[in-house]
Amino acid sequence: CGIVGYIGNNDSKEILLRGLEKLEYRGYDSAGIAVKNGEGVKVFKEKGRIADLRAIVDENVIAHTGIGHTRWATHGVPSKHNAHPHQSATGRFTLVHNGVIENYDLLKREYLQGVTFQSDTDTEVVVQLIEKFVKDGLESEEAFRKTLTLLKGSYAFALLDNKNDETIFVAKNKSPLLVGVGNGFNVVASDAMAMLQVTDQFLELMDKEMVIVTKENITIQKLNGEIASREPFTAELDASDIEKGTYPHYMLKEIDEQPAVMRKIIQAYQDDKGKLAIDYNITEAMNQADRIYIIAAGTSYHAGLVGKQLIEKMAKIPVEVHIASEFVYNMPLLSENPLFIFISQSGETADSRAVLVAVKELGYKALTITNVAGSTLSREADYTLLLHAGPEIAVASTKAYTAQIAVLAILANVTAKFRNQEVEFDLVQELGIVATAMEALVDSKEQMEEIAREYLSVTRNAFFIGRAMDYFVGIEGALKLKEISYIQAEGFAGGELKHGTIALIEEGTPVFALATQESVNLSIRGNVKEVAARGAHPCIISMKGLQSEEDRFVIPEVHELLTPLVSVIPFQLIAYYAALHRDCDVDKPRNLAKSVTVE
Ligand code: G6P
Repeated sequence: CGIVGYIGNNDSKEILLRGLEKLEYRGYDSAGIAVKNGEGVKVFKEKGRIADLRAIVDENVIAHTGIGHTRWATHGVPSKHNAHPHQSATGRFTLVHNGVIENYDLLKREYLQGVTFQSDTDTEVVVQLIEKFVKDGLESEEAFRKTLTLLKGSYAFALLDNKNDETIFVAKNKSPLLVGVGNGFNVVASDAMAMLQVTDQFLELMDKEMVIVTKENITIQKLNGEIASREPFTAELDASDIEKGTYPHYMLKEIDEQPAVMRKIIQAYQDDKGKLAIDYNITEAMNQADRIYIIAAGTSYHAGLVGKQLIEKMAKIPVEVHIASEFVYNMPLLSENPLFIFISQSGETADSRAVLVAVKELGYKALTITNVAGSTLSREADYTLLLHAGPEIAVASTKAYTAQIAVLAILANVTAKFRNQEVEFDLVQELGIVATAMEALVDSKEQMEEIAREYLSVTRNAFFIGRAMDYFVGIEGALKLKEISYIQAEGFAGGELKHGTIALIEEGTPVFALATQESVNLSIRGNVKEVAARGAHPCIISMKGLQSEEDRFVIPEVHELLTPLVSVIPFQLIAYYAALHRDCDVDKPRNLAKSVTVE
């Protein structure tokens, strides 16, 4: 979910709506705004997208204060009545919330017997509690503070009090939240992108802080009332980076940006002598680790699987890769001297953050690899490596995935040299070759569209197979396809398909096979024969030098350790066109969110 707030001299509606549009990547099940003027608070909310909300907002209501929310459902189905903002029984308090209150049921039973609820959300319990404490005699600020001290879980809140024209009350724990500083106005937002339209000055908030925001002042307090001082930082995003220009979809734009991102990364990680370089402390931490634990979710996890190969093969340090949401509840036996690497495009994924908090408590060091400078995972880890991919807006990750792999390759390479491990190739040169190959691939849109049409127009499922590096790219290819086209797609290790899943192969079932690794070229082709013999419609994508006549598409040759950087691009494009042909919402697939800030 994402939240925004504005208090100042202008009408707040448009600023809030525009902010929410920028936050839609955090969820788009339903959305709402509440605006306050002399006549009171007016709430507009609607199931669906911000565009649906915009359509019902009354243009005639002019109000200088407001809060807004776009939702990714956790408690309660996506619907108008579960949409935020939520109000207390008398309507005095209005609240938007990102996060999950774990003890809401307990609080409801303990404090709110007899109160009638309008929604099924944990959030409504919070706003009802505030009103209850005010009825018991507390001032709004005190009632808010007292409520915060009772909550277990994660939250970013913005609260309006109908009896107080001057203030938005704000609080944060675990969920991301920033307060933006303006001249004669102030804003609140889950991330800076939402409010870059009005300011680039932001204050970072810490967990368990509460903020009193007026149009002239911002007062940050700890929950015990102690004042905290904070300097603003400048958000360095270029607002034009987040426009899609002439592209029909962000996803296509982001796929096309990959060669440029590759070049940017090479540049960003070169020293003035043209040698690859990263912060000495990071290499030192890598060198001292007896084992590296990569923690991530979704596409970032898939990049982590490739990262393990790169680190083990170049730097010769053992690596384990774990899904964040599993690791936190089921930690493996750790080595004596572990280093944790968090891979996260957004730097905000709650599952990954939960692991970071847990391992920091155990006293271990952590490195975050992220696209977002100043994100929670970056701030809270000991070290950060940035992806330099520019904002990624489409929910299905493309350029961040390849950027993650490139940065992991650089990390592995620099660490290898630090450890005097011999690396027999020049990574700068090889990444340059990758960038050129990427250019050729993003220019192959017509062929990819044709493949999508031929293989995926009517099918209900599809399989992706590969061995070694190609296996990891296969599962990412399958994820891309299912995320945006809703075709059931699964990636398998080429040799494993025959141990069960081959039962699903029918006449015409599409099987995409990657063949970019010399050592497994023959064996993957054997696996293709097995499925073809059972009626499958195979689509082999191979690499130059390894191709054979039966192949549907051949990608340019790159170093065998770096093939995922290029072999994923056909899959990204095939998924894109499959979704397009099926009339799916490419950039905002159903049920998903770009950044999931709940566990
Ligand atoms: C969400 C997105 C995925 C993404 C995952 C991890 O589920 O829909 O596309 O891979 O989160 O996100 P992160 O920002 O941590 O890389």
